[in-house]
Order: sequence, then C-alpha cells, then structure tokens
Amino acid sequence: MSATFRTAVVRHPGGPQSIEMIDVPVVEPGPGQVRVEISAATVNPVDLAVADGVFHQLGLIDQPHYTGLGWDFAGTVVAAAPDVDLAIGGRVAGLVSGFNRDFGTYAEQIVVPASDVALVPDGLELATAATVALNGLTAAQLVDLLGAGNGRTLLVTGAAGAVGASTVALAREHGWRVTGLARAEDEGFVRSLGADFSVAPAPGWDAVADCAMLQEGGIALVRAGGLFVGVRPGAAPPGERSITVRVVEVQPDVARLAELLDATASGRLPARVHAVVPLDQVAVVHRAVAKGGVRGKYVLRP
Ligand SMILES: NC(=O)c1ccc[n+]([C@@H]2O[C@H](COP(=O)([O-])OP(=O)(O)OC[C@H]3O[C@@H](n4cnc5c(N)ncnc54)[C@H](OP(=O)(O)O)[C@@H]3O)[C@@H](O)[C@H]2O)c1
Repeated sequence: MSATFRTAVVRHPGGPQSIEMIDVPVVEPGPGQVRVEISAATVNPVDLAVADGVFHQLGLIDQPHYTGLGWDFAGTVVAAAPDVDLAIGGRVAGLVSGFNRDFGTYAEQIVVPASDVALVPDGLELATAATVALNGLTAAQLVDLLGAGNGRTLLVTGAAGAVGASTVALAREHGWRVTGLARAEDEGFVRSLGADFSVAPAPGWDAVADCAMLQEGGIALVRAGGLFVGVRPGAAPPGERSITVRVVEVQPDVARLAELLDATASGRLPARVHAVVPLDQVAVVHRAVAKGGVRGKYVLRP
C-alpha cells in the first residue's frame, strides 16, 4: 500500500486554476474511526465558493497551509479501528462539514468517525449515493424549518437543482402544495416530482423555499405573514410584511442520511448524476459548474 494518497486542495484561493493536487500521508484510523477509499465525491456550489476564496474573505477559513475541498463522498471501508463495528469492504456514504479544514472528500481516501457514515443500500450506485448527503440533508433540514404544510402553498425556487428537487419531494410528503420555480426547459423534470411549475410566479405564497438563492426576490414572493427559508447561512435577507425568515445550515445527521439513501434507492427522492469525471479533471469541472445550466451533479472519481 502506498504511504501517501492524492487529494485536491486550495492554497491561495483564486478560482479553478488555484486547485492543486497534492500527496499527503496515509493515516491509520484512530479509536472509533474508519478509513474509506473514496469512489465518488460530489462537486457542489460550496466547493466553488471555497476555491474562489469566499469563505476565506468572510474569515471562516484560516488554514496555515491549504484548505481541503469536498463535502460529501461514497466509497468502501478499507480499514477500521478495533472498536468499530463496520465490516471492511462495506459500502458507505457520508458528509464532512465545516469550512475550516485541511482535508476534504476530493481525495483518494478519508479517515472519519465510523458514526459519521451510513451504509449505502444494495442497488444504489456509489456515484449516486455520493450526491445524497449534502443536498438531501439540506433539503430535509429545510423542510424541518418549514414544518407541516397542512395543504398550504409552497414555492420552491431552483426546483431543478439538487437541493430544490429534494425539497420538492420531501415538502410534498409533509403536506405542502408545491410549485417549483425553474428554467423553462426544466418543466418536465419538475412536474415529474409531482409539483406544479412556473418560470415567473406571481407573489402570494404561504412559504418560499429559496433553493435558487433569489434572496430579496424570494422574500417578495411570500404573502404577508408567511414564511421564507433561505439556503445562505449568515446572509438572511431582511424580513418585511411580518414574514418569518429562516435559513438552513446543514448539519451532519447520519440516521437521517441512512433514511435519505434508502429513499434514493427506492426512487422516492430524486438524485441526478450529470457525469462521473476523474479527480484530476477537477478544475475543468469547476469551470463547467460555474457557467450554470448543469443538470445533475458532477461526481469526481479519484
Ligand atoms: N445552507 C446550507 O447548508 C446549504 C447546503 C447545501 C447547498 N446550499 C446552497 O443551496 C443552493 C442550491 O444548491 P444546489 O446544489 O441545489 O445547486 P444546483 O444543483 O446548481 O441548483 C441550483 C438551481 O437553481 C437554478 N436557478 C438559479 N437561479 C435561478 C432563477 N433565477 N430562476 C430559475 N432557476 C434558477 C439553477 O439553474 P441554472 O443552472 O440554469 O442557473 C439550478 O437549477 C446553492 O446556493 C448552495 O450553495 C446551502
């Protein structure tokens, strides 16, 4: 076994061209930990923002050498501490959260607490499983903030995106009458989730789940006294007209992740993979995602 593994990091953030592939030492799992050989790591908007230096500028990243990229992953357990009850060879998925870290999932392997990974159901491909943790948990926790719909109306902006589509599916299960706002070419997909569809909705919704980050534009669509849930932590748009404003900030929750993986395997939850691309093509992928218009997630394969 090699004594090092490859990982993508940012030393001096400045967009895709600032992403470097480096070799770092393999570490053995400590008590309670497993080492996972990563098969798939999803490229999410947050990774583009990290490579652009957005969170460095906000003071949320302060690493002495470099910052790791990538939040969610799927792969195979290749080593486990003696106190861990997870089989070598088990297929798992997980989420590493927080901005200020020198490791990430854009890597050949990762060491994480065994309690932070969920088993991937048989029949669910690892590339698809890798797209569930960040987006599915964000959607589930957003729907927690919405509460029970009891037949009220909900507009989900960015309904063709990963967080938006999962929010549509989960909010419907929680009794909301859901309409998705997306581009005209997304109508078929959004309707396939069981939602109504609009490219330019009129105001007056009981609630807006703002997965396209329209911010003030999203608030303007909520009826007086209604509810707005945003997706941009630390940047809630100002409330108005007695509208309640909340913002989701995704938290790891491995029991929930296991449920979401099951829901994805059974088709209850949408998960779209745009393409699986070798890890060393990461800068090309970041540039493609930055242009917009990508449907489904790019997944990196180390
Ligand atoms: N708070 C948290 O903890 C948390 C966690 C995860 C994600 N997020 C955030 O949630 C957002 C969504 O993430 P994602 O992974 O779902 O991104 P995504 O897959 O790129 O989806 C975003 C979707 O919104 C669409 N969109 C953007 N502006 C639009 C507009 N004006 N009208 C119609 N559609 C529009 C995009 O279409 P085009 O591609 O055509 O523009 C795209 O389909 C991101 O901002 C991400 O940073 C937050």
